[in-house]
Amino acid sequence: MLQIPSINFESNTDFTHMVNKITVVGAGNVGATTAQRIAEKSLSRTVVMVDVAEGIPQGKALDQWESAPVELFDTRVVGTNGYDETAGSDIVVITAGIARKPGMTRDDLLNTNASIVKSVCEHVKNTSPNAIVIVVSNPLDVMCHVAKHVTGFPRERVIGMAGVLDTARYRSFIAEALDVSVQDIQAMVLGGHGDTMVPLVSYTTIAGIPIRQLMGEEQLAAIVQRARDGGAEIVKYLKTGSAYYAPSSGAVEMVDAIVRDRKRILPCAAWLQGEYGMSDLYLGVPCKLGRNGLEQIIEVELTSDEKAALEKSANAVREPMATLKF
Ligand code: LAC
Repeated sequence: MLQIPSINFESNTDFTHMVNKITVVGAGNVGATTAQRIAEKSLSRTVVMVDVAEGIPQGKALDQWESAPVELFDTRVVGTNGYDETAGSDIVVITAGIARKPGMTRDDLLNTNASIVKSVCEHVKNTSPNAIVIVVSNPLDVMCHVAKHVTGFPRERVIGMAGVLDTARYRSFIAEALDVSVQDIQAMVLGGHGDTMVPLVSYTTIAGIPIRQLMGEEQLAAIVQRARDGGAEIVKYLKTGSAYYAPSSGAVEMVDAIVRDRKRILPCAAWLQGEYGMSDLYLGVPCKLGRNGLEQIIEVELTSDEKAALEKSANAVREPMATLKF
């Protein structure tokens, strides 16, 4: 009798640990890589990639779906230029907007991306009124504010991805410098997603060992600075665009925490209402993510230097917020 080799789908077809539909808005490098990672991790039955560029989301989605028999996922990847197919999404990841070119700051993207995010959010509000929205577009903290304002969703359902990316960069540099596994580096980068972000050195540990026991101040300061400049370092190499592998990993880590109700503690941009002594702005803070989205903001003790740095970072977010037109 012909023996058909059995394929182990086990880890990829656990339908109890997926949601029905996740939409990724933007089929550029960040959006497409995000959709691919969601499909490869089987986080939803369907991933819809939507973009205004004709043919691009359709072509990339089809290409990704054709990888399914090899990568062993059953998540259908669909590309579209409209929002009908996105209706009823459980999660919407917004990556739409223009990316930085060398010499540009994230704030240079402000008004162009605000009008793009605004139009996206009007659609999301109408087609997926119960979705949890994860914002990735830059300037991140201000785009979160636009998304919350336009959708009118509660803060539990509008969260920004930046801290996971900034922390991943910081952790990768530490792992490289100490020649240890990335798994053993625990850290958190708070504040706005810009030059003023605040890597919390006092909470950086290697398998629980405070980093200052393993690394001198000078090397540590250089790594902190490199993390702050992490986005610009990639833009400088790529010249025509910005990072997307690590940013999409960051977004998908948040999606995974929500879909699988993991109660992960991740640094995310959240709408502050008194936490850390601040209100009415998005800023990166430690957040608990689960099936309800943002389930808790965790307030940690900060040194006076860290407090001052967080305040400075908040001001760097408030400034563009004040000039925003949408
Ligand atoms: C970065 C951009 C995407 O940090 O903000 O790479």
